[in-house]
Amino acid sequence: MTSTAPTTGKAPTTGKVSLTGIKPTGAPHVGNYLGAILPGLALAKSEDVRAFYFIADYHALTSVTDRDRLIHDTYEVAATWLAFGLDPDRVTFYRQSDVPEVFELSWVLACMCPKGFMNKAHAYKASVDRNVAEGEPEDAGVNMGLYTYPVLMAADILIVDADIVPVGKDQIQHVEMARDMAQRLNNQFGEDTLRLPKASVQDNTAVVPGLDGRKMSKSYNNTLPCFLPAKKLRKTVMRIQTDSTPPEAPKDPDSSLVYQIHSALISPDQKLALAAEYRSGISWGGAKQLLYEELEAQLGGPRERYTELMADKSQLDVLLAQGAQRARAMARPVLDRVRTAVGINR
Ligand code: TRP
Repeated sequence: MTSTAPTTGKAPTTGKVSLTGIKPTGAPHVGNYLGAILPGLALAKSEDVRAFYFIADYHALTSVTDRDRLIHDTYEVAATWLAFGLDPDRVTFYRQSDVPEVFELSWVLACMCPKGFMNKAHAYKASVDRNVAEGEPEDAGVNMGLYTYPVLMAADILIVDADIVPVGKDQIQHVEMARDMAQRLNNQFGEDTLRLPKASVQDNTAVVPGLDGRKMSKSYNNTLPCFLPAKKLRKTVMRIQTDSTPPEAPKDPDSSLVYQIHSALISPDQKLALAAEYRSGISWGGAKQLLYEELEAQLGGPRERYTELMADKSQLDVLLAQGAQRARAMARPVLDRVRTAVGINR
C-alpha cells in the first residue's frame, strides 16, 4: 500500500492481482483525490502487484438515466486518473463495458447466488430504508440492476482472477459476496475454477471535511472539485466557514475547518509548522490563501493535463481500448474455465 519503489514503467507479469472499480458519478473532488486516487496510485506502483483499474460504467447505469452524462462522467474518471499520473503501461486501465466476458460470467454467478443475499446487500437495503422512511412501497424505484448490483461486481472481480480488492468499508460486504459466489461455484463444479478474492480495507486514508465541516461528499453538496479553474478554486476556498476571531489573534488550528482541510494535504512536519502559524496569529484571509496555494501546487499541473485529455477524447479512447484488450486477455481463460466447469458448449 505504501510502497513507492521506483517503477520500470512496465506492467509486472507476476504478483498478486489487485482490482479497483471506480463508478463514474460526477466531478472528482479533493476528498476523492486524497482518500482514493493518491492511495490507488501508490498501490499501483508496487512491484509485486498487478494492478487492474476499471471504470464501472454499467454499474452507473443502475442510477444514471442521462446518456450524455454517462458518457461524460466515464471520460471524466479516465481523464482524472491519468491526469494524476496513472501509468497505463503499468496498470491495466479499462472500461467495464469493453469487456463482454464480465457480463457472461455475471449470469453464471447469478445462478450460484441465493436470492436472499441480494435482499441483504447494502446498496439495495439503503434504497429500501429510504423508501420506508418516506412512506413509499419498499421497492419503489428499485430496478433489477440495482438489486443484483453485487452479482455484476462479483463478475468484475472474479473475471480477472483478482486476489485483492482494495475498498472502503462500505464495499467490504460486496467483496465478501463475490468470494461466497466463487466458493459456491467451486464447491459445485471444481475447486480450482475461480480464484477467491479478499477485500483489503484502507482505513488509514484521509477523511477530508467538506466546506460545511461534514465529510466531503457529493451527496452533501459541500465539495471542493479537483479541477475548478484557479480563480474559482480560490473563490471557493475563500468561502470556507471561519469564526470571528480578529485577524492578529492566535487561532486554534484543531477547531478550524480551513486547517483541517489544509492538513489533509501536507506532511506531518508541514502540519506542525502550519499549526504554529495559526497559533502565532494569522488572519483567516491569510490562512485561506495558504490553503489555496497548496491546492494550486498539487492540482494545477494535473488540471492542465485533464483539460487536454477532455478536449481531445481520442487519446482516452485509444488508451482505454488498449486496456480492454489486456483485460480481455486475462478474462478469456477465466471464462473458458468456468464454461468448461459448468458444462456450457464444451
Ligand atoms: N461498487 C463500487 C463502488 O460503488 C464500484 C465497483 C464496481 C467495484 N465493481 C467493482 C469496486 C469491483 C471494486 C471491485 O464504489
